[in-house]
Amino acid sequence: MEMAAPKSVPLLTSYKMGKFDLSHRIVLAPLTRQRSYGNVPQPLAILYYSQRASKGGLLIAEATGVSDTAQGYKDTPGIWTKEQVEAWTPIVDAVHEKGGIFFCQIWHVGRVSNTDFQPNGQAPISCTNKPLSHQLQANAIPRRLETEEIPLVVNDFRLAARNAIEAGFDGVEIHGAHGYLIDQFMKDQVNDRTDQYGGSLENRCRFALEVVEAVVDEIGADRVGIRLSPFANYSEAGDSNPEALGLYMVNALNKYGIAYCHMVEPRMIKIVEKLEVPKSLLPMRKAFKGTFITAGGYDREEGNDVISSSYTDLVAYGRIFLANPDLPRRFELNAPLNKCNRETFYTSDPAVGYTDYPFLQFDS
Ligand code: FNR
Repeated sequence: MEMAAPKSVPLLTSYKMGKFDLSHRIVLAPLTRQRSYGNVPQPLAILYYSQRASKGGLLIAEATGVSDTAQGYKDTPGIWTKEQVEAWTPIVDAVHEKGGIFFCQIWHVGRVSNTDFQPNGQAPISCTNKPLSHQLQANAIPRRLETEEIPLVVNDFRLAARNAIEAGFDGVEIHGAHGYLIDQFMKDQVNDRTDQYGGSLENRCRFALEVVEAVVDEIGADRVGIRLSPFANYSEAGDSNPEALGLYMVNALNKYGIAYCHMVEPRMIKIVEKLEVPKSLLPMRKAFKGTFITAGGYDREEGNDVISSSYTDLVAYGRIFLANPDLPRRFELNAPLNKCNRETFYTSDPAVGYTDYPFLQFDS
C-alpha cells in the first residue's frame, strides 16, 4: 500500500499542555471496556493501552471507580484498593515505555447503579432519591446523600487521585459527564436538593468544584483535567440551560488553573448517537484559559478543521481509536480505517475486539 504523507496535518502538530509536551493532538477518549474482572484491571490491558500509545500522545484511561460505592457496571476497573493500584502500575509503565502520557478517568456512577453493585447490598447514592425511569425496581432506588456526607464522597475522589499518581499515572480526568454522579449534581433535571448543593447554578456546581479543589490540592493542578457534557441528556441527566452551565463551569475552573477541560460536543446527546444540532462549544472554549479538548463524532477531516480554526487544542477520538490502535499513524498517512464492532465493545471475551484490531500493513 503506498501512501504519500500529506504536507500538513494539523492533528499531527505538537502542542504543549502545561508541563506535558504532546507531539500530536490526537487523544484516546476514555472508553469503558468491561474487562476488569472483579473491578481489577487485567494484564491484557497492558497490551491494549500500549498498542494505542505513541511518543508524546495523550491517552485517557477508561472510567475507573473511586470507591466501593462508585460502580454500576460489571467488570469496570477501580482505583481504591492496593490490589487495583498494583494492577494499574504495569499498564501505566507500558504506556510510558512508548513515550505516552496517561491520565486516569476517575468516576462515580451515582444513581446509575443498583444494590447488586453496592457493598452490603445498600442503595446507590446520588444527589436525589429519584430513580432512573427505566429502573423503577426497588434495588435501583437511590439514596439522597445527606449534606454532611458529601465531603466524604469528595474525599473518595481525592484518594483515588492520589492512588492514580501512586500507580504512575501522569494525571487524572475527573468524570463530570454523561449522567454520572457529578453530572447528576450539576443538571437541573436530576438535582432536586434544597441545601447548598441544589437549586442555583452555583449550588448545583458546588460538588463538582469541591471535587476539583480536593483533587488539585492532592496532586497539583497541572495533573488535573475534567470531562463535562453539559448538552448531553444521557441517563436522564439533561439541563434546561446547558450553555449557562458549561460557561459557569469553565469560568469557575479558571480559578484552579487545571491542565485541561474536555468537553463532549452538543451533538452527542446520547453517548454515541450523533445528531445535528445548532449548538457549539465555542463560547466555552473561548472562556476557558487552559487546554481545551473536544470529543464526539470526529473524523480526520473535521479534527484537522477544528485544530486549524483553533476551535479546540486537542481532539479526543473514541470509537475509531478503539478500532485503530495506530490511529495517529493512519491519520498521518491518510490511510483507511478499520471499522469498529459494537458487539465487542463490552464483551466478556477478553481479546476479541480489544487487542486484535489490526495495525496498518505495508506491502514492502
Ligand atoms: C464511551 N464513552 C465514555 N466516556 C467517558 O467519559 N468515559 C467512559 O468510560 C466511556 N466509555 C465508553 C465506552 C465505549 C465503548 C464508547 C463507544 C464510548 C464515550 C467516549 O469517550 C466518546 O465521548 C464517544 O465515543 C464519542 O466519541 P467518538 O466515538 O464519536 O469519537
